[in-house]
Amino acid sequence: MQFFIDTANLEEIRKFKGLGLLDGVTTNPSLMSKEGKVDFHAHIRQICDIVQGPVSAEVVSTDSEGMLTEARTLARLSPHVVVKLPTIQEGIKALAQCTKEGIKTNMTLVFQPLQALIVAKIGATYVSPFLGRLDDIGQDSMEVLQTIREIYDNYDFRTKILAASLRHPLHVVQAARIGADVATIPPSTLARLLDHPLTDIGLERFLADWKKIKA
Ligand code: G3P
Repeated sequence: MQFFIDTANLEEIRKFKGLGLLDGVTTNPSLMSKEGKVDFHAHIRQICDIVQGPVSAEVVSTDSEGMLTEARTLARLSPHVVVKLPTIQEGIKALAQCTKEGIKTNMTLVFQPLQALIVAKIGATYVSPFLGRLDDIGQDSMEVLQTIREIYDNYDFRTKILAASLRHPLHVVQAARIGADVATIPPSTLARLLDHPLTDIGLERFLADWKKIKA
């Protein structure tokens, strides 16, 4: 399973890249807006330079022509750019053209298996089911993820399943059990993936015992 970080914050990206934990980055308009008044294209280029892996950058047009114009500009920024398109009818039209032009895509705001089936048929590079937001409304997000996995395996679709809107470490474990290809994880959750109190207690004891030998 690949780990992406779900943020547009350069400091966080540098930190986790330095730890060797990052395969890629996902951003969206809400995450970009947290960074203040940045130059979107320059910022995406900077992220690509740091991570040297797939970086999702989202369009904001709602018609396919507008999405395509944005997609082409974004794709020219770096070979690492993956264009994020909304999973609506206009987004599907734009996806078909991006696939033809060899532009990598990440179909976002996916909440049910049929959306995932359709984007795979049209050649999406990634599909992003938003798991936490399904849990928020009392739906079983992992059942949705499992169904998408089954459908993709039935037909050998090459679209990668990118588990998104993950809120806690258990989400990552559950997504890994189901076989999501990628988990995109917010920095606060990424920081907790290695945590276990018994690890800290164990290390403290080892070091205390080691001091006794030296004494
Ligand atoms: O990658 C999608 C993610 O940013 C959405 O997360 O927590 O806003 O549902 P959240």
